[in-house]
Amino acid sequence: MPESFFVLSKDNLEIAIDEVISIAKTYDRFSKVKILSNLVIIQSKTNWEQITKRATFVKISGQILRKMSGLFLDDENFEVLKNAKTFVCRIINLSSNQFNISELEKAMGDMITKFSKAQVSLENPDITIYLIFTEQENFFGFSKKVETQNRPKKIKKYPHELDWKLTRAMINLIGLKEGETVCDPFCGTGTTLLEAESMGIHAIGLDFDEKMCNISKENLDVNGYKSKIIKADFSQLIKMIDKFDGIVTDLPYGTASKSSENPEELMKKFVSILPKRKKIAIMCKKGFEKKLKFNPIKKYEIYRHKSLTRTILIK
Ligand SMILES: C[S@@+](CC[C@H](N)C(=O)[O-])C[C@H]1O[C@@H](n2cnc3c(N)ncnc32)[C@H](O)[C@@H]1O
Repeated sequence: MPESFFVLSKDNLEIAIDEVISIAKTYDRFSKVKILSNLVIIQSKTNWEQITKRATFVKISGQILRKMSGLFLDDENFEVLKNAKTFVCRIINLSSNQFNISELEKAMGDMITKFSKAQVSLENPDITIYLIFTEQENFFGFSKKVETQNRPKKIKKYPHELDWKLTRAMINLIGLKEGETVCDPFCGTGTTLLEAESMGIHAIGLDFDEKMCNISKENLDVNGYKSKIIKADFSQLIKMIDKFDGIVTDLPYGTASKSSENPEELMKKFVSILPKRKKIAIMCKKGFEKKLKFNPIKKYEIYRHKSLTRTILIK
């Protein structure tokens, strides 16, 4: 079974690690995972491109060729270069050892050109060969050229909006698949809906504020997205439980966003009507979740500034 590697950004590392694992397991629940600091190795039927396309915090990814015992690749490994016209070698040094990276990359490149017809190209090569050094073990890996995906456009913003990265990660952490539907009962500017649709997931948004519903609609329209937006109180979601597979939402904090009532009270009511068997990701101000009858399977804290730490609850 193919093994993939993912070098993750160190901001929100715990979320970043869980996100790639969750994506892999969404498509293949028997995926096996090894975590070496901010490098995650996943053995799965789900290939690295499929995971990378959805993941938020992946900096570099590709397929593992094999564990590195010496600095040389064998003939079998040159197969990946068979149809390539151009390649480049890159060192990923996650160890505390010091290397002369450019010298090592050049030496690898020179060696490979002796065995392969492919030529070194530093810009946009067909194949990138990676040497990955960690404290524990080292690997050879490769990746092919991939089309960069266009991000959804957001023409209307608002101070209380949640950044797209955390929103996208929340959708991935609950493991929704293409063709399923997510509901955001506090949809604001539509960030959840935009991220969901960009991954092929349908979305329904509710917001009690007409102005926010209009902003969401404009943001969806400009992308040609078709999510449903309903001007309604969050409590209306109990009437549409059979229409979605999961909830991803960011509740009012009582600062920038308008709230129909005291935000802690509102959260209490919201949690009390949550459907039992749906996948749920809730973002709220740290502390709001205390005293609630809600047992998350995972909880993350994200420090924003001295008066705001956010909590993500996953169920
Ligand atoms: C923190 S904002 C959501 C931001 C959103 N994630 C985004 O990225 O734009 C909370 C939203 O909840 C809405 N809201 C407040 N009380 C509500 C209620 N009782 N029912 C539905 N929506 C409500 C507000 O209008 C606001 O747009």
